[in-house]
Amino acid sequence: MLPANSGIPLRRGILSTTRSVVHLESLQTAHNLPIRTSYRNRIHAWSSMNDRPTNVAVLGSTGSIGQSTLAVIAESGGRFRALALSTNTSTQRIIEQAFEFAPQCIVVADQRQAAQLDASQLPAGTELFSGAEDLSRVAALEEVDVVVAAIVGSAGLLSTWSALEAGKRVALANKETMVMAGPLAIEVAQNSGAQLLPVDSEHSAVFQALQAGRPQDVRRVILTASGGPFRQYTPEQLQHVTVDQALEHPTWKMGKKITVDSATMMNKALEIIEARWLFQLKKDQIDVVIHPQSVVHSMVEYVDGSVIAQLSPPDMRLPIQYALSYPERWKGPAKTIDWTRAQQLTFEPPDNDRFPALALGLEVAQAGGTTGAVLNAANEAAVARFLDGRLAFSNIVPACRAVLQQHNFETHPDLERLIALDAWARQEIAKWVNA
Ligand SMILES: NC(=O)c1ccc[n+]([C@@H]2O[C@H](COP(=O)([O-])OP(=O)(O)OC[C@H]3O[C@@H](n4cnc5c(N)ncnc54)[C@H](OP(=O)(O)O)[C@@H]3O)[C@@H](O)[C@H]2O)c1
Repeated sequence: MLPANSGIPLRRGILSTTRSVVHLESLQTAHNLPIRTSYRNRIHAWSSMNDRPTNVAVLGSTGSIGQSTLAVIAESGGRFRALALSTNTSTQRIIEQAFEFAPQCIVVADQRQAAQLDASQLPAGTELFSGAEDLSRVAALEEVDVVVAAIVGSAGLLSTWSALEAGKRVALANKETMVMAGPLAIEVAQNSGAQLLPVDSEHSAVFQALQAGRPQDVRRVILTASGGPFRQYTPEQLQHVTVDQALEHPTWKMGKKITVDSATMMNKALEIIEARWLFQLKKDQIDVVIHPQSVVHSMVEYVDGSVIAQLSPPDMRLPIQYALSYPERWKGPAKTIDWTRAQQLTFEPPDNDRFPALALGLEVAQAGGTTGAVLNAANEAAVARFLDGRLAFSNIVPACRAVLQQHNFETHPDLERLIALDAWARQEIAKWVNA
């Protein structure tokens, strides 16, 4: 446990945006850090052969994707260095990560948690920053090459935006950015030269399958969905789903919000919207198929009828690594398929009546404009209330639809408008729940 506030002021660094090469020697000799020796040695070996490792800012490093990213970095043979880490409130975990990875800085987004953190607990050479603005500044630091956007929800929007504006490679796990503001995000990336690479396993699969043909020859993209824990539930059973049941995903271990989204299939709805903007597909070019084994991560069908798929066991370390290594590939920590074992891969159409989120996702992907931001915020607020026991599982999607129907649609909103609508939709969910 962390000691109570010791009264020691935060050791705040100055966030410079001027180019400065990271000096590994100073990193390694600064103090006697109990950094994992193997990781330290690999960084050293790699940097002696190359100019320097690729510097990665892992935003949301204490979450499920963040921790998997650090596992990929640790196994990268020193190719990658975790230059910056961030958390919202998990200060104990980020201190442990700081000792293991010796980042140049960490950001604690929650100001109260940051104020209670005793900076002397951090390894020497690691600076502490706090709050959402510092998060955005860190994402744009000159010495950061790649930003892994792994903060959950719309809280990840502005730091992802900052990375895009700064022209970084963005390994995008935070699908909410694309759902809220996909067309604007693509425009920002095109203007700044930023590279947007998907981390979502489905979008990584599509990205890989798209390399097999020309964009004009794509007939459609087929996103696979595990179907979640309630794939075979009756409508009656869906009325009585508990929080514990919803948090038990059959194939993936993930953060709470996305686990609930997978159970309602809102996650697939968000992925439909993400795919539409990320791959600039036409509105009728996206389909969903249920594939309970989560081995085929998605497919692209070309006009000649060929279907190109990407397969691997369900393990997020692979799509994370590919977003970091692209266009290269190397052996990483992700599991591989055991082809000596008999196995079945099955596919079935989704049931839109039991899982109405899918239709909502398709509608929003078709409508664009303000609908993505409203749906996203309504869903985040509804899921939070479900987790608090204040909203029934079966009411999450109806609540989102009700809020969506109430909003004043605009075709070309700017970012400020989308952020205002995010706040509005959350208030509407609160009213809906209390009504
Ligand atoms: N998990 C997966 O397998 C998976 C797969 C595909 C896509 N994704 C996407 O990846 C993103 C992260 O998912 P996850 O499952 O890794 O979530 P998670 O386990 O809940 O982790 C979320 C991270 O964001 C931080 N965070 C939360 N609220 C924040 C705030 N207000 N300001 C700053 N940081 C905040 C958390 O810090 P604390 O530790 O302090 O809470 C944590 O580091 C989501 O957009 C999700 O849709 C996840």
